[in-house]
Amino acid sequence: MNSEVKTQNTYNEDLNWRYATKKFDASKKLSQEELEQILESIQLTASSYGLQPYEVIVVENEEIREKLKAVAWNQTQVTDASHLLVFANLTKVTEGYVHNYLDNIANTRNISREDLKGMEDMIKNTVLQLPAQAQEIWAAKQAYIALGNLLSSAANLKIDTCPMEGFDAEKFDEILGLKERNLTTAVIAPIGFRSSEDYYQDLAKVRKAKSDLIEII
Ligand SMILES: Cc1cc2nc3c(=O)[nH]c(=O)nc-3n(C[C@H](O)[C@H](O)[C@H](O)COP(=O)(O)O)c2cc1C
Repeated sequence: MNSEVKTQNTYNEDLNWRYATKKFDASKKLSQEELEQILESIQLTASSYGLQPYEVIVVENEEIREKLKAVAWNQTQVTDASHLLVFANLTKVTEGYVHNYLDNIANTRNISREDLKGMEDMIKNTVLQLPAQAQEIWAAKQAYIALGNLLSSAANLKIDTCPMEGFDAEKFDEILGLKERNLTTAVIAPIGFRSSEDYYQDLAKVRKAKSDLIEII
């Protein structure tokens, strides 16, 4: 047996610690450093071709959050959490967007744009060829990877989160002025600290048995 194999999986301990927080302690705020660490994990998230076809809006403004809560089934996490993160995917991936991404690679890695021609063609022949709706779904999927990364990285910092799809995306887009920026709300996540009164925090995790979830062939 490989003696290097870790026997203590603190990552899974973090995943057991986290839960979809229903009641946040409205008096507790993330420090600037905690917020920055969380946002950096989102920035570091993998995406198809590395295109990151989404933006994350950090909503602090209380008035805006009241408006958003009203179109999110009045779920109190939207206003009570320290911050509200809105994952908004591109509604259309344009040639210009791809062009800027390739410029970024060339500059960051100090390589010529010529050397990236193969990659550029590949992106143009795949992502840019998708029918509009399929492209939007593809972009939203990428945003969900960032959401997953956020949930885990926050748990590692003992910061609570609640992934949420219970909201009216069109109304969110309207309130946040996303449509005119070629963006639409995919999913949201309030982040902050659980209230000691949140009934859900001590409930056992309900998950499929591994035998139903995983198949080894
Ligand atoms: C994409 C997504 C959307 C969700 N939407 C909501 C929501 O709108 N409101 C809510 O209270 N919980 C929401 N949840 C939380 C799930 O109900 C919860 O993650 C699931 O029951 C597993 O429990 P756990 O996360 O506490 O381990 C959502 C979870 C995910 C991943």
